[in-house]
Amino acid sequence: MKSLVRCSAVLAMSLALCGCPRSESDTLKMATHVSFPPYELVRNGEIVGVDVEICRAVADRLGLDFSVESMEFDAVLPAVVSGKADIAASGITITDERKRNVAFSEPYASAGLVVLYRKAVPYKSEKQLKAGKIGVQNGTTAEKFMREEIGKEPKCYRTFDDAVAALKADECDFVLEDAAPANAVATKDAELQVSKAITYEEYAVAVRKGSDILLKTVNDVIREAKADGRLARWSAEFSSSAKELGRR
Ligand code: ARG
Repeated sequence: MKSLVRCSAVLAMSLALCGCPRSESDTLKMATHVSFPPYELVRNGEIVGVDVEICRAVADRLGLDFSVESMEFDAVLPAVVSGKADIAASGITITDERKRNVAFSEPYASAGLVVLYRKAVPYKSEKQLKAGKIGVQNGTTAEKFMREEIGKEPKCYRTFDDAVAALKADECDFVLEDAAPANAVATKDAELQVSKAITYEEYAVAVRKGSDILLKTVNDVIREAKADGRLARWSAEFSSSAKELGRR
């Protein structure tokens, strides 16, 4: 009976993934980019975090095995579009541009961009974003904000960690990034501080367009995890892991 349930879940997933029966895989493959605490970070050599828990719960619900792969942030959504991965979660902000390529779940967290700065070079107003050298991570909403709202070319780094290292080395004046990872860095580094949020954004899980059963399952899992307190617990657990690990 169990295998029948599993079989039909796999069939449902196959249908969900490409709209036609497909039996090659009984693993839900997640694409992400570490590190971005508390959403994804490496703990004891393993990728963990809020996003991982959400996707793992989706796999469990569908009776599928689960795997997670970290890649460049700007490769995460293309991985879902091409079929390399089934599901993407990486603190991904919902944007109209991204909605053209993937289907987003309901939001599971609110977020916003903040300016990370050295206390020695305080950040006071958005004018400084226009004047200074601003570090961002490739392919993020911070990069888009700099180009479209500030009208200025940012300095793009592969990872947030690289952008922060550049800030500390005085290669850029400020780093624009999401509040959660920025706060995780600033609480551990007495030299750094974080501004108030300058945007309002929402994170969601992305799947291939037409993956309706998968998307419905993701939404069910998000709703339930919000209601029963798991989402808040995951967030607390992985925020404190990030602190203990001394890494972002
Ligand atoms: N929320 C921002 C965006 O969607 C940044 C996400 C970066 N995520 C990460 N895992 N580094 O563009």
